[in-house]
Amino acid sequence: MFLHSETDHIVTLTMDMPERSANVWNQASLDAFAAMLDALEQREDVKGLILHSAKKTFLAGADLDAIEAIAIGGKDAEELHGSAGALSELLRRLELLPFPTVAAINGSALGGGYELCLACNHRVAADSPGLQVGLPEAQLGLLPGGGGTQRLPRMIGIEKSLGLIMEGKRLGAVEALAMGLVDAVVPADELLSAATRWLEKNPAAKQPWDQEGFQIPGGDMDGYGAQVIMVATAMFQAKTHGNYPAGKAILSCFAEGLRLSLDAGLLVEKRYFIQLLLDPVAGAMVRTLFLNLEKANKLAARPKGLPRKAFSKVGVLGAGLMGSGVAYACAKAGMDVVLLDRDETTAKKGKTYSENLLNKRIKRGRSTQAKKQAILGRIHPSAAYSDLSGCQLVVEAVFEDREIKAEVTAKAEAQLDKDALFGSNTSTLPITGLAQASSRPDRFIGLHFFSPVERMPLVEVIVGKQSSDECLAHALDFIQQLGKTPIVVNDARGFYTSRVFGTYITEGLGLLAEGVDPNLIEAAGRASGMPMPPLALADEVGLELMHDVGLQTAKDLGDAYRPNPSTPVLQRMVVEAKRLGRKNQKGFYTYHERKKTLWPELDALFPRATAQPEVEDLAERFLYTQALEAARCVEEGVLPSVADGDVGAILGWGFAPFTGGPFSYMDGLGLKHFVSRATALAAQHGERFQPPALLLEMAAHDRSFHGP
Ligand code: NAI
Repeated sequence: MFLHSETDHIVTLTMDMPERSANVWNQASLDAFAAMLDALEQREDVKGLILHSAKKTFLAGADLDAIEAIAIGGKDAEELHGSAGALSELLRRLELLPFPTVAAINGSALGGGYELCLACNHRVAADSPGLQVGLPEAQLGLLPGGGGTQRLPRMIGIEKSLGLIMEGKRLGAVEALAMGLVDAVVPADELLSAATRWLEKNPAAKQPWDQEGFQIPGGDMDGYGAQVIMVATAMFQAKTHGNYPAGKAILSCFAEGLRLSLDAGLLVEKRYFIQLLLDPVAGAMVRTLFLNLEKANKLAARPKGLPRKAFSKVGVLGAGLMGSGVAYACAKAGMDVVLLDRDETTAKKGKTYSENLLNKRIKRGRSTQAKKQAILGRIHPSAAYSDLSGCQLVVEAVFEDREIKAEVTAKAEAQLDKDALFGSNTSTLPITGLAQASSRPDRFIGLHFFSPVERMPLVEVIVGKQSSDECLAHALDFIQQLGKTPIVVNDARGFYTSRVFGTYITEGLGLLAEGVDPNLIEAAGRASGMPMPPLALADEVGLELMHDVGLQTAKDLGDAYRPNPSTPVLQRMVVEAKRLGRKNQKGFYTYHERKKTLWPELDALFPRATAQPEVEDLAERFLYTQALEAARCVEEGVLPSVADGDVGAILGWGFAPFTGGPFSYMDGLGLKHFVSRATALAAQHGERFQPPALLLEMAAHDRSFHGP
């Protein structure tokens, strides 16, 4: 596991865990590391130690089994006390060895992997493109428990390290050097010689915090550091409403631990780490944002036994907002793209979208002129369907209009090979209906991208009644090639994401009609953990668009249509007040140069009730209405996998991430509790809160979505 080699009294330990693609911390590697420390502590002839890895990654962090154990929960504090601090204690022993140590970081070192680097005296990283370092634990509701919260601030200062740890940022080698997370970046083949040279020049290196008179750079907890923590605590509380215990725990590790010696600070960190491991928020976030996300990325829903397909040429119909984004994503992933619109000028404008994005990336140091030219060179704007010849897949992103979609489908298919796929990016129209325009509906599928495509990681794949297994498998291969995460759903109005997300906006708008103060509505949206409050969100989506979708749905459903609480509000805003949303700068908000404020006349349009509800009650309604709709999607067979449902909710529309998604949210509350509360809400606010039969039955049998 740790291959030992030695030249001129310099020891190199090369980590290479057998039968694994990456090195991780688990019981076996911790034991091996401890044995190695036992041996090194006895040696008096050693002049230095280099830690290095034989794998592509340096060390990836904790083992999957350990992570799964967090998701399942059920450990008690006493048991955790024994195991949780193990890495922390070993790393302390490493940094107290009587000779200098260097981490020769040849690949990504994240979480516990980077904490190993922090316990070395020096860090030199290879200048490799995919290499990342950082402490991403907070993104999973945890904190770095191997000394990360104590060593990083002592190394680079409180202010810089707090942001990195709170946000769980990962940095590439060059950024890491600029921030001080690594001390040098060298070409990969010079890594070991650079490490050796440093050891030879620094035979007496000692950690700064183990030296007399050490002070935290940039101000300690008796000075500027304390101010930083105070301001950050206030901002964090205002932003997260106490929903994220990890952030609070990290702030406490800083506030308490950085006043003490490193050894005492490590004990403070251990205490908070154990507290988080026992908190259900960490379990839910780990399950959804690590385990189930990984499963979706590995295409858990892909039908088995079908050969994989690699895509080299694709077509995109419609060079508007979505089509341009999809073309960029495909070209960036190395595919040739024919970007087709009604005329060449519009198609070219779609390509300019990519150019603008790439210019921005270059400005931020995230891309280069050469990469830009390569990506742009792969996008071919056109108005001629014949250019689609040879495309293995076409993504359709023209206007949301059945007839136009039918026309472009037929025209495109006439140019395509028999086995080419056709994916529609429709956000509302049932796929099975759209497939009627196709001469091979078995090759027709929904590929619902989110806006802005270049930033949004999710694609909702909608399987039509006639979509074949092979079509689904290859569509998933395509999404994986784009580096995005797919979830798979069945064909029904609104699919999964738009349908559930829609209930949040609907509820928010409905509150206006109930006479709730719009400021209160927005405050409750934020407090619920949703990324944007509902009225602001409605303005972004477009009030006119929502009104139109409502009219279309009413027409399509006929007698089965049930108006929802937002219907009268949209009618008044769009039809009577001509306020269409952000696009005409008039919606629930009025838009000034750089600011927006709630439209003062809302009070006249929607008179306020004398009694106003509590923010917490409204926040609860926002999460309940979404969770109930998500449960209906399972009951109706729209959503085959609740794991996908949780992942899609957080990645697709930012459903309160601390809950782990709507299904984890219901599980966390306990279905019995959830059902009884929903029933009470239904009595008070209407049948949309009535729990579906599936939930009633699950609650009656003490079942949960993710458990037994
Ligand atoms: P858009 O209006 O920005 O772009 C549509 C493009 O299609 C325009 O460039 C138009 O010239 C082109 N087009 C129209 N008829 C055509 C034809 N007969 N032949 C070739 N090109 C034609 O619309 P957007 O927002 O990009 O939406 C496109 C599709 O994506 C719609 O189905 C929409 O529902 C869906 N969608 C939109 C999202 C959004 O946030 N805007 C999110 C997810 C899906």
